[in-house]
Amino acid sequence: MAFLADTLSRVKPSATIAVAQKARELKAQGRDVISLGAGEPDFDTPDNIKKAAIEAINRGETKYTPVSGIPELRKAIAAKFKRENDLDYDWTQTIVGTGGKQILFNALMATMNPGDEVVIPAPFWVSYPEMVLLCGGTPVAAPTTLENHFKLTADALEAAITPKTKWLIFNSPSNPSGAAYDRNEMKAITDVLMRHPHVWLLTDDMYEHLVYDDFEFVTPVQVEPGLKDRTLTMNGVSKAYAMTGWRIGYAAGPMEIIKAMDMIQSQQTSGACSIAQWASVEALNGPQDFIQKNKAIFQGRRDLVVSMLNQAQGIKCPTPEGAFYVYPSVAGVIGKTAPTGKVIETDQDFVTELLEKEGVAAVHGEPFGLGPNFRISYATSEELLEESCRRIQRFCADCR
Ligand SMILES: Cc1ncc(COP(=O)(O)O)c(C=O)c1O
Repeated sequence: MAFLADTLSRVKPSATIAVAQKARELKAQGRDVISLGAGEPDFDTPDNIKKAAIEAINRGETKYTPVSGIPELRKAIAAKFKRENDLDYDWTQTIVGTGGKQILFNALMATMNPGDEVVIPAPFWVSYPEMVLLCGGTPVAAPTTLENHFKLTADALEAAITPKTKWLIFNSPSNPSGAAYDRNEMKAITDVLMRHPHVWLLTDDMYEHLVYDDFEFVTPVQVEPGLKDRTLTMNGVSKAYAMTGWRIGYAAGPMEIIKAMDMIQSQQTSGACSIAQWASVEALNGPQDFIQKNKAIFQGRRDLVVSMLNQAQGIKCPTPEGAFYVYPSVAGVIGKTAPTGKVIETDQDFVTELLEKEGVAAVHGEPFGLGPNFRISYATSEELLEESCRRIQRFCADCR
């Protein structure tokens, strides 16, 4: 009898975490490495939020909380959905988890039966298909194109849906492409879903606040209220408030799924960290000026990176609407020989040789489900971004 579960043979470790680890190892050996793999803002959590956490500790808010979260936070979440997204949810229709990751995982755990399919537009966040597999379901990638700025079309969605489809996982702005859907693009997607009443929608709005150039963020139920009874709207404080380490994510949706997720969480981690929950109450209810300040910084970095990458021979980089990633194509470099003598046949070869020759760590496209591309996170200083883009330009020029 095998000791480890068969499920493990179907999933892969996170490629983004692996790149960060590799970059750390090379740095420890004394190499000059710039890591562009990080999926988190490089800013510190705002002081008012830290202060709320310290006050919670001093008040003795250090005990177990209700599984779905403290009522104060769930009410703040319901108020956030009303204020920012014009969505009406009672606070009892919300749930708090240990990061957005747990929310997604438990939603899938609560709903997957063997054979159930989950449509995931590619390129996708690396964890979606692996979570579906861990929960016993089957991920179905729906491809996008660079020409369409990595946005799912109605036709591609229609083609991916079968009678076995249980969910569409939708992520705007997207990790890894930064693509965000405007109202019309979103309506094209929700119109397809309206024609398939057996398909539920899991919308991951984690990067909601990181959109640039007056882009107006919309969430699917705002555009098509007819989907409200079969949509779980997920969000969190990690990216918007630079709180990745606090581990708080949340969702709102129909009572049936919220109760099922609560049940799973009750036998799993119970309520999320009490102190982080109180900090998140302040994040959602407190001053929001931090978000605007950071947006302006990210926008400047995005513009710098897109412009410099498009000057690298063989690279094409569309301008994304949001998040803090770009997902350039390296199709123009494939088939060339790197300065190390290696022929670049895949996007993995590209990032491996780039790291070897120029000390720039980025993540190749394959684990994101669409290539040949690579992902750069621009959540780092302008100086480092400029230097790394210069190195990428030099590397591409040296490929013959
Ligand atoms: C698209 C997307 N969804 C969800 C998450 C998970 O966020 P959290 O840190 O709250 O678990 C991430 C984190 O990288 C992400 O990129």
